[in-house]
Amino acid sequence: MAALPPHTGINFTSTIHKDINLSTDPNKSDLSQPSKVILITGAGRGIGRSVALQYAAAGVATVIICARTATELDEVEQAIHSINSSVKVRKLPLDISNEEDVATAARKIKTEEGRLDVLVNNAGASDDWTPIGEGDVKQYWNTWTVNFKGTYLMLHGFLPLLVETAKEKNTLVDVVNVTSIGAHVITPGASAYQTSKFAMLRLTEFVQAEYGDKGVNCVAVNPGGVLTRMSAEVDAIRPMLTDTPDMCGGFIVWFTKGQRSWLSGRYLSATWDVDELEAKRSEIVQGEKLKMRMVV
Ligand SMILES: NC(=O)c1ccc[n+]([C@@H]2O[C@H](COP(=O)([O-])OP(=O)(O)OC[C@H]3O[C@@H](n4cnc5c(N)ncnc54)[C@H](OP(=O)(O)O)[C@@H]3O)[C@@H](O)[C@H]2O)c1
Repeated sequence: MAALPPHTGINFTSTIHKDINLSTDPNKSDLSQPSKVILITGAGRGIGRSVALQYAAAGVATVIICARTATELDEVEQAIHSINSSVKVRKLPLDISNEEDVATAARKIKTEEGRLDVLVNNAGASDDWTPIGEGDVKQYWNTWTVNFKGTYLMLHGFLPLLVETAKEKNTLVDVVNVTSIGAHVITPGASAYQTSKFAMLRLTEFVQAEYGDKGVNCVAVNPGGVLTRMSAEVDAIRPMLTDTPDMCGGFIVWFTKGQRSWLSGRYLSATWDVDELEAKRSEIVQGEKLKMRMVV
């Protein structure tokens, strides 16, 4: 695969990380968020699992872990408790692309938890990378169904509770949509995956436009290149899978620790140095950076 061009933000900060670091590691920095309820989709393995474990280290009140494979959720529950036994874990087996599953889950969390502070839309899927005219229609559409419809359904189901939490607790709440640096490039064969991740960037801007004034911060985060079950299937990106899953876990915990509404609606990368990112605040806000716009 060719080197990634600058517009992908590949070098947006001068330090580019490959692992969790001092400012994003809840074991080294104060990233505690004691009263929060966190919901993470795709938390059974890979990146979502690491996000859950970093929130455990940050000492949140409750972590709700979602995926379809119940046995993987059992393992993550144990791993969370071995890090922090006082974190409440709620396992929620569901298919994010199933309207009824998501609606039932949203009702259950509203009734039984009564609040939601952070929604991490991490679950995703990829197909075999094949040119448009040659691939399997069902596989192509499954990628869109999980990545876009699934994210939309989670937003549809949980935004009311997020808004209610922001209002009742007089705070900001956060939504993190896990996208990909692939959203910014056109890799022949990858149109299902890359268009779905590109569309998630605009969906993120819509959440900001519709819910920003109701206390909801929404960003899209590229987790870096991480060797996981999904990414291991794509031979073309194998050499790029050199980041740890904890890097993204720590980055998301860092993001939600602050009240970072100035980043809302934007694309972020977990590879970026967060202290440099903070230092670029006025450049980003005044320059309307990290949003998708046509060059004219
Ligand atoms: N790995 C990378 O280098 C990389 C790079 C850029 C972006 N990403 C993004 O990072 C996210 C996590 O991927 P990963 O690499 O960690 O992959 P992974 O290890 O295969 O994990 C994917 C997770 O999503 C869940 N999932 C898939 N379909 C689902 C559905 N319909 N309903 C509910 N849960 C579902 C899976 O659980 P079940 O199968 O049990 O449901 C699993 O827990 C994805 O959005 C991916 O696009 C990854």
